[in-house]
Amino acid sequence: MRVKNKFKESFILHCNAGGRLFPLVIGCLLFLHLFSFAHQRYAQSGETHLSTNQRTQFSILERVEEENIQLPQPRKRSTRAAKRKPKRPTTFIDEFLDESSQLRNVFFPDQRTAVDSRKDNGNDTYYYHPGRIWLDTEGNPIQAHGGGILYDSRTKMYYWYGEYKDGPTYHAHKKGAARVDVIGVSCYSSKDLWTWKNEGIVLAAEEKNETHDLYKLNVLERPKVIHNEKTGKYVMWMHIDDANYTKASVGVAISDLPTGPFNYLYSKRSHGYDSRDMTLFKDDDGVAYLIYSSEHNKDLHIGPLNEEYIDVTESMRKILIGQHREAPALFKHQGTYYMITSGCTSWSPNEALVHASESIMGPWETIGNPCIGGNKIFRLTTFFAQGTFVVPLSGVPGLFIFMADRWNPADLKDSRYVWLPLTVGRPLDHRPEYSFGLPLWSRVSIYWHKKWRLPYR
Ligand code: DGJ
Repeated sequence: MRVKNKFKESFILHCNAGGRLFPLVIGCLLFLHLFSFAHQRYAQSGETHLSTNQRTQFSILERVEEENIQLPQPRKRSTRAAKRKPKRPTTFIDEFLDESSQLRNVFFPDQRTAVDSRKDNGNDTYYYHPGRIWLDTEGNPIQAHGGGILYDSRTKMYYWYGEYKDGPTYHAHKKGAARVDVIGVSCYSSKDLWTWKNEGIVLAAEEKNETHDLYKLNVLERPKVIHNEKTGKYVMWMHIDDANYTKASVGVAISDLPTGPFNYLYSKRSHGYDSRDMTLFKDDDGVAYLIYSSEHNKDLHIGPLNEEYIDVTESMRKILIGQHREAPALFKHQGTYYMITSGCTSWSPNEALVHASESIMGPWETIGNPCIGGNKIFRLTTFFAQGTFVVPLSGVPGLFIFMADRWNPADLKDSRYVWLPLTVGRPLDHRPEYSFGLPLWSRVSIYWHKKWRLPYR
């Protein structure tokens, strides 16, 4: 402390050569700069531009909805068993992971409650029910895990790509994570983001060739697709690995159509580094970026793709260094970049964090947990899910869909989707110290709702 103060003093004294007013002038300039910056940000923020109707729509989605779930009474154990090994208290995560838990139906509601767009849903039409089974237009559960959405302006359709996991769950090794053999990348199309038609497997696993990246005993996760205006191609990037997650690479595939078939090109370690969970982000200027967890998930790396989007370039920055984050989902609002990430706990849920930056290459600042509502444990587990993508919506500025996976490690094909409204525009809960009390970023908020729908149609 002393050293710091001394330094401050000597700095001020030194500046006094030009008069005592100098630090004051600098201070005022800094303040004015920050003030105009903050003012500009607020003026830009979606909320000031909302119509009355949009404000009402926002306020419905921003209602805080509480959940009241209780831990069940601990099961009776014999006195001998209790003496042998005293049991630590059960947590909600234990219950979530326990297939025979009394709360199973809370986390994984059964078939009877499935969301089915083929039915006459009456007032329930277009409602998302996070965690429920979600059926496609043929009545089958949607299989598009770890996925992302592309809006294609040519066909005016949304395409949802993800991991098709409709196979048995098993462990390749005693200590290995639960897995399903690779079947391929699925694609579903929709006009309304609620009714989804299965377009089939657009990139299929390799059944026989054991040396192929897409060999069924390997790993293919988190596929994302973007469109390249220059080449006209749809470009898919995905995490490619072996069953032990040691290959840690990205794979690239291209197609002429959003509905495939995609032609697999190659895999590589991006920038020479291990890369696991990943995502793509295409900026307004057409430059696309790859963001991936690296150095054993310690850091994230970010770098632009080449013009064709089929490779990275030499440029790369390490971000969120030492923060151990994965499952990145990036989006942009009013010129600011935001990213949601999860912690690294395999298929178990953990706390989401939001990061923000003025420039996509960083520096990125961590600004807190976005989850609102539910209850404390819902907020500390991202509503028992892990983020995968943020869908930008046109129409209401500052409104997005947060897409997350509620993984079911006991039966991965029965993992559920948790889609919730995400808004940007409120002040942060805690102001970063160096902002001199002025807000530099807006709050990113994901609101828990048992059921909700997009406000405009
Ligand atoms: C967490 C990752 O986010 C998932 O995509 C998957 O790789 C699991 N780990 C595997 O344990």
